[in-house]
Amino acid sequence: MLIVSTRQKTMTQDELKQAVARAALAYVVEGELVGVGTGSTARLFIEALAGMKDRIAGAVASSEDTKRRLEGHGIRVFELNDVSSLPVYVDGADEINAEMHMIKGGGGALTREKIVAAVAGQFVCIVDGSKFVEVLGKFPLPVEVIPMASAHVTRELKELGGAPVPRAGFVTDNGNLILDVGGLQILDPVDLETRINQIVGVVSNGLFARRPADVCLLGTSGGVRTLRADD
Ligand code: A5P
Repeated sequence: MLIVSTRQKTMTQDELKQAVARAALAYVVEGELVGVGTGSTARLFIEALAGMKDRIAGAVASSEDTKRRLEGHGIRVFELNDVSSLPVYVDGADEINAEMHMIKGGGGALTREKIVAAVAGQFVCIVDGSKFVEVLGKFPLPVEVIPMASAHVTRELKELGGAPVPRAGFVTDNGNLILDVGGLQILDPVDLETRINQIVGVVSNGLFARRPADVCLLGTSGGVRTLRADD
């Protein structure tokens, strides 16, 4: 006997990521370049983007991994310095709040992600529902550090109330180290982002609050929700 359930099917985290990755295609401007993030959700976006590669001018990558994947799909990758305008940047996040402030850098690509996002007209954040939080900080905040400054930066981050841990065996695309800072309850993300940026030896930190996302596509079992800071 076939039993048909009327209950809504629970989607896996991967299916939710898949759904938001596909939904982000609606923000890609035909004939233009698109900035592409890094991580598992961004990888699904790259696969979706491959389906419309003949309708875009190319892409700007936020990491070496993303560059390889884009090129693997036959998508032309441009250097950011050769680009005068970038209408949209699509990327995942480790946490996002209602103000569209994010923690990013779980994959270690935070600095290049922040640079590409700074140039882009619109930041479209694609996440499954588990990433949406009231207060940022449960996910350890990644901080990219010049290697010779790591002890100094560690002391300064402790002064700010954090518990920095070096990311073992990891070197960024820029040849630097990552400190993952636990123990933070980030009530003022813009202020903390600014303070950490002022520590000598910090290249960048994974708070994306001074330049938040413009749109968040949030994957839920009820469908993809579109959130904006002023909602
Ligand atoms: C990469 O450095 C990160 O900023 C990612 O965007 C972030 O960690 C989200 O990754 P997932 O999509 O794999 O969760």
